[in-house]
Amino acid sequence: MIPKETVDRIIETSRVDEVVGEWVNLKKRGANMLGLCPFHNEKSPSFTVSPAKGIYKCFGCGKAGGSVNFVMDHEQYSYPEALKFLANKYNIEIEEEEKSPEQVLEANAKESLFLVSEFAAAYFQKQLNDSDNGRAIGLSYFKERGFREETIEKFKLGYSHDEWENFTKAALDKGYNIDFLEKTGLSIVKGEKHFDRFKGRVMFPIQNISGRIIGFGGRTLSAGKKVAKYLNSPESDIYHKSRVLYGLNLAKRQITAEDRCYLVEGYTDVISLHQNGIENVVSSSGTSLTTDQIRLIKRYTQNITILFDGDTAGIKAAFRGIDMILEEGLNVRVLAFSEGEDPDSFAKSHSTAEIIAFLTDKSFDFIRFKTNLLLKETGGDPIKRAGLIKEIVESIALIPDPIARSVYLQECSNLMNIGEEALLNELNKVRRAKLTKKAQQNEREGSRFPIDQIASPTIKKAEPVNSLAIQEKDIIRTLIKYGNTEVSIQTNKEAAKGEEEYIEATVAEYLVFEIEKDGLDFNNLVFNTIYAFFKIAAENDTTVTESHLVSHQDQEISSFVIECLLEKYILSLNWEEKHKILTVTEDQILSTKIHKGICSWRLNKVIEIIEKKQNSLKSNMNDYESTLNELIKLNEAKKRLAGELGRIILR
Ligand code: CTP
Ligand code: MN
Repeated sequence: MIPKETVDRIIETSRVDEVVGEWVNLKKRGANMLGLCPFHNEKSPSFTVSPAKGIYKCFGCGKAGGSVNFVMDHEQYSYPEALKFLANKYNIEIEEEEKSPEQVLEANAKESLFLVSEFAAAYFQKQLNDSDNGRAIGLSYFKERGFREETIEKFKLGYSHDEWENFTKAALDKGYNIDFLEKTGLSIVKGEKHFDRFKGRVMFPIQNISGRIIGFGGRTLSAGKKVAKYLNSPESDIYHKSRVLYGLNLAKRQITAEDRCYLVEGYTDVISLHQNGIENVVSSSGTSLTTDQIRLIKRYTQNITILFDGDTAGIKAAFRGIDMILEEGLNVRVLAFSEGEDPDSFAKSHSTAEIIAFLTDKSFDFIRFKTNLLLKETGGDPIKRAGLIKEIVESIALIPDPIARSVYLQECSNLMNIGEEALLNELNKVRRAKLTKKAQQNEREGSRFPIDQIASPTIKKAEPVNSLAIQEKDIIRTLIKYGNTEVSIQTNKEAAKGEEEYIEATVAEYLVFEIEKDGLDFNNLVFNTIYAFFKIAAENDTTVTESHLVSHQDQEISSFVIECLLEKYILSLNWEEKHKILTVTEDQILSTKIHKGICSWRLNKVIEIIEKKQNSLKSNMNDYESTLNELIKLNEAKKRLAGELGRIILR
């Protein structure tokens, strides 16, 4: 953990023009600076940096943020990594926050696992390149497979000797602790004895996103023998198979640049494609694809192309992977190699241009892929055909975005030569079933009905506009846009003319006071987080610095804030920015607007609670009386608020 004060200092010190300027050639244009966007291909510059506001925005591709976001996006760093990078640039010392003794032990233990793994990788690498057996057996194997010297180096490939304790002994001699050797699975301990897990195998180190070694895959060299082709490290505190993608550390940059990730089956597929210049490729290596892995990819792109080996046993199992990707809201294309071929073998016998053309031309969106494949099975059988249609519709139903859903539905209609209406009916049926299931599940778990998540516009009934959400958004926007503006607020709202009393406060202070008074809460997590900034600042008599919000590690928060700020700077009246002092009428408009905003939000909150209580009355008669009493009080509050709101509007 980097202490908050240090984070603040880093953010305040990092000048966006200097940081961006490290990678982008910026030219001055008035108050702003202009350059070619590093996030998308463009010929004329639309990437704008505003040093005064501490933000950048590309008017071509829409990417926007502050210094920290830029480093995260451009270098594919995590938030702490980006902060460390900037701290280093500006010579800011980071003192890590003090940890409890247990945290220290835990951190040390983890670090030790990393260290033995790094030692092991280096050791296996050395054996491959420098030992007689390593060169004669391991290195010649790789060479025979067509791996070039620099590729072997890039992937840190290695060799483990075909001996019982060659590696373990070397590690112990170097002072590494047997506990950590055992925990990483590199050594197997039996009483007093210990053995190497990997014997006589070529070694593929597995790295996490930041490139640290966390595990190994070892391939046997003895063809035909009854041993597993690949042996992998077991799960450990640093190696969670379901959350790792082989090659991602080397691929992330290219994945962003190409806005696509290729997903292959094996280590060697990743390596061969890299060697042929295709670097946006990862593999789930040995495990079937997990949702965590898909989310890892989602950090870099929305587009996945799955490349299946020609001999893939259960193509049906592959369907599961496709559905999981769809469910995460990503676009998926699929390419199946022909019998006996995989990306590795294909890459070897084709030029880079041929491979790229093949990947583009021969991959299909999931509907075409499924249809092609299943039509072969079903032939002319109408019953099987109906089953196929149902199967495809079930996949479409998983897609969260309604527009994408209807596009795919249309495609399916064309391909299968079946009316869209019929498909829509089927789709709605599937989604309704899903909706009911989810609602029941939520009820069991006591959570809110996620209506906005699963409500489908293709289901004819229109959903009511969620005015609570709009009000929340409005309040947060007001905080961001006017939080530090001074207004005078009338404290005795009902006073007669001439007897009004006013206090001076910032908009943020006023809003925080009103919100805290009733203990109101934002339903939306992004808004809640932004609000917390203002609440803490108001309570500590300070103001929120825009750059802190802009540089927030959560992209959703940062984007929302930037959107509001740009509105403020580019579109809004410029009185408040230029003069910082408001004319009497503008002041009144603002404070009335705020008062009204808070009031109608409160009113809606009350209505929401009333509805909930009424529903609980229907299903649970136990606390009938007390719930009823609460309802009466709530209805009074509702009336009072409605009255107050009416008065504001009339004014
Ligand atoms: N795998 C595994 N254990 C096995 C077999 C396979 O963990 N016993 C994993 C490995 O990560 C492997 C991937 O599944 O890379 C794909 O398997 P396969 O296609 O059989 O291997 P390739 O990667 O094609 O390896 P090679 O080209 O050396 O045959
Ligand atoms: Mn393979």
